[in-house]
Amino acid sequence: MPAPLIRPRHPEDLPACAKALYGVHEKDGYPVRWPADPQRWLTPDAILGAWVAADEATILGHVSLAQPSDTFAAAIDHPAPKLALVGRLFVAVDARRGGLASDLLSHAAQAARDEGRRAVLEVDANAAGAVAFYERAGWRFLRDDTGGWIAADGLPARVRIYLAPEA
Ligand SMILES: CC(C)(COP(=O)(O)OP(=O)(O)OC[C@H]1O[C@@H](n2cnc3c(N)ncnc32)[C@H](O)[C@@H]1OP(=O)(O)O)[C@@H](O)C(=O)NCCC(=O)NCCS
Repeated sequence: MPAPLIRPRHPEDLPACAKALYGVHEKDGYPVRWPADPQRWLTPDAILGAWVAADEATILGHVSLAQPSDTFAAAIDHPAPKLALVGRLFVAVDARRGGLASDLLSHAAQAARDEGRRAVLEVDANAAGAVAFYERAGWRFLRDDTGGWIAADGLPARVRIYLAPEA
């Protein structure tokens, strides 16, 4: 069987992306609350691009890049137009530990470099698996912060911010 392909997301992929995301939400609580419009949630404001890992019509993984807010950028001392915020990264529950998230993350970080930007991300500090994944991928921890969403405990999420490797 051919390896899953990392390719740009097309608008017609969105229903299958939302379906894969629902399984992730049920297993991992990501996102914490199921959005009223998951396809809109997969298309954040100031989006720069989105990619999927696909096995023919089956969506196995997803990642997006967006320009962060000026507030976020100022907190890590970089101009927002030089940054690309990685988000909406997930791999379908049955497709994990095969390197798909690593491939998606590398792809997104390279797409950012190609646009003269540096990829950054924020991860829920309590998401131990995701934190381990980013550290294994060689991303550099910058700082702790408070995320712009409410965590499962009803308090503002505590996040860890990471910067992509230079190459
Ligand atoms: C985190 C996530 C994207 C990883 O996807 P994946 O395709 O399984 O990751 P990879 O196979 O590329 O993992 C590469 C390495 O990262 C580390 N890693 C990945 N998942 C891990 C976990 N749950 N616990 C500890 N280490 C992990 C391992 O070192 C792994 O290498 P190995 O399998 O040889 O041990 C996936 O578990 C997921 O979708 N989680 C829910 C959504 C989420 O938390 N997204 C991030 C939001 S910020």
